[in-house]
Amino acid sequence: MIEFLENIQLKKYNTFGVEAKAHYFVAVSSYDELKSLIANLKPAENKHLIMGGGSNLLFTKDFDGWVMHSEIHGIEIIEETDKQILLKVGSGESWSDFVDFTVEKGWGGLENLSLIPGSVGAAPVQNIGAYGVEQQEAFVNLEACNLITGKKCILNKLECDFDYRHSIFKGAEKGKWFVLNVTYRLEKIPRPNLNYTPLQKAFENTPAEEITVKAVSEAVKGIRRSKLPKPEELGNAGSFFKNPVILHEKFLNIQQHFPQIPFFSSENGKVKIPAGWLIEQAGWKGKQIGNAGVHHQQALVIVNCGKATGKEILQLSKDIQNDVLQKFGIMLEPEVLIL
Ligand code: EPU
Repeated sequence: MIEFLENIQLKKYNTFGVEAKAHYFVAVSSYDELKSLIANLKPAENKHLIMGGGSNLLFTKDFDGWVMHSEIHGIEIIEETDKQILLKVGSGESWSDFVDFTVEKGWGGLENLSLIPGSVGAAPVQNIGAYGVEQQEAFVNLEACNLITGKKCILNKLECDFDYRHSIFKGAEKGKWFVLNVTYRLEKIPRPNLNYTPLQKAFENTPAEEITVKAVSEAVKGIRRSKLPKPEELGNAGSFFKNPVILHEKFLNIQQHFPQIPFFSSENGKVKIPAGWLIEQAGWKGKQIGNAGVHHQQALVIVNCGKATGKEILQLSKDIQNDVLQKFGIMLEPEVLIL
């Protein structure tokens, strides 16, 4: 019989470290457990939140429903050739530990995603990405349980509809699925991806044979540590906003007024602009209001300077949005889930 807890404090389960209570909290360690839980839930009670590492959400109030937390573990080799290996990973595994495991084996594909907080199950939901790579590049499929019917099925890459920090689980199928496990394809003959300029610079004088999976992972970790605060030391959820993607025409207009604006070309003639730059230009970098602040090294990261409430952090994010909108005519969209 699956056990659930009532009125649980979620402070240690979210990387912002804000206080919020869950009406019910249940740790799921297998598909069978989840199936029996769903079978016993009345539809009216079925208000739920699936929480991985709690590294991409902001609680602004108590959660009046079920918080489900995956504790499905294990890494299983399901196929192996001379060139590639397919690994099926439990959704409750730590993403960062999983990447370290693949790096230690010398298997390539996920090394640029080293040290990202959160769980394996959350990685495809958010289509996590960093330093020139998104998880979708190594993704094969995932197995998920439908939270209404209790049935499980496999969704492939196309069905997940991945996009920048987006998947079907944040769109049309939001809240319907509990990810049980994810399968990734890793390369035994790795091809390092050094498209991210600081990473390229880090290796410009390194002979090709020394640019190993491990070396790239270490470089990524170094860059991350220099820019992003550790949640254990300073509560945060990584980038608070997405980098906005705007029409080329609008971009040219802004560029006329701000010739130094950094940008990346995106698909369909659109332009992606670093939100961190916009926030910094709006004067927010390093600022603190009450217990919430903007990180002094990376303006895209909002931090809990001590005992911030979720509401305080939300208010700061709205103030930032307003100022950026006024200055640039761009409405920043939160990357974190606000509850
Ligand atoms: N910038 C500033 N000021 C700042 C921060 C950034 O001017 O305070 C400008 C600089 O021009 C810099 C550019 O923004 O060159 C890009 O900054 P950075 O390389 O740090 O990346 P980012 O666009 O701010 C994105 C992801 C990060 C990911 C990095 C590296 C999003 C929303 N964020 O940040 O992901 O680690 O690229 O690939 O796409 C996350 O999602 O939580 C996250 C940390």
